[in-house]
Amino acid sequence: MNTRAPGRYTGRVAVVTGAASGIGRAVVDGLVAEGALVVANDVSAGPLGELASDRVVTVTADVREPHAAQQLVGAARDLADGRIDALFNNAGISRPGRAAEIDEETWSHVMGVNNDAAFHVVTAVGRVMIEQGHGAVLNTASVAGTHGLPGNVPYVVSKHAVVGLTRALAVEWGVHGIRVNALCPGLTASGMNTRLRAADSGYWEAREAVVPLRRAGTAEEQASVALFLNSPEASYVSGLIAEVDGGTHALYAGYAVNRPV
Ligand SMILES: NC(=O)c1ccc[n+]([C@@H]2O[C@H](COP(=O)([O-])OP(=O)(O)OC[C@H]3O[C@@H](n4cnc5c(N)ncnc54)[C@H](O)[C@@H]3O)[C@@H](O)[C@H]2O)c1
Repeated sequence: MNTRAPGRYTGRVAVVTGAASGIGRAVVDGLVAEGALVVANDVSAGPLGELASDRVVTVTADVREPHAAQQLVGAARDLADGRIDALFNNAGISRPGRAAEIDEETWSHVMGVNNDAAFHVVTAVGRVMIEQGHGAVLNTASVAGTHGLPGNVPYVVSKHAVVGLTRALAVEWGVHGIRVNALCPGLTASGMNTRLRAADSGYWEAREAVVPLRRAGTAEEQASVALFLNSPEASYVSGLIAEVDGGTHALYAGYAVNRPV
């Protein structure tokens, strides 16, 4: 079911990182359907290229590279008048493993994408938004940004930092008319979970069974909330840490074993 109001993004310019698959791709599809001009970034050139159109400019770049953020701002300048109305700061990676066995390279890679790059992109775009006096930013965190998960320390630490980044910028940039929110997806049957689901369907079903809605969400369901939060419909929403997780955050873990009631 598509519940999106048509035209919320008509004439607006949006930047999306991690746009080639999963949630980022669903966001780009939604933006195009609602009339936006889009700068779509990913490190993965092939799938990103499929998004290119007269309304979507693609920028293949690793957001960890020092010049990547400026490339995105430059692409917005080429696409329209340099204005950026909305940023979907979405690129992220997960590298599960036992805490005591995480090597330096894995730690740096996760922090580099989820934190350093997210900071560089949001500040480069933020400078444009401060200058123009308006803008909306959505950082993709995770329920790992508000809770502990076993076997994924770099991801949990980095996503808690994304929540901190969101709150810090929401209170600092409000005076410039810039809203900053965070999307915290829960179990989502897309993108980075695709392999996990295929490799161990029993584990996946057990995870779904403790979600109050009894299923994983979809990339489109995440994108639907993301599009709302960066649209004018959410004009008084800032600093929100939005857990989109089928109700899981409301559940005390001591009751996570299901019993019919
Ligand atoms: N799927 C889930 O269950 C879930 C849950 C919580 C949070 N998230 C978050 O949602 C966001 C999107 O995840 P997804 O599930 O759509 O995964 P995904 O792997 O499909 O999408 C992430 C995209 O980011 C790109 N990317 C990775 N490193 C990059 C880099 N250095 N530079 C540019 N692009 C890069 C990847 O190529 C990929 O296309 C991530 O931030 C992730 O942490 C996802």
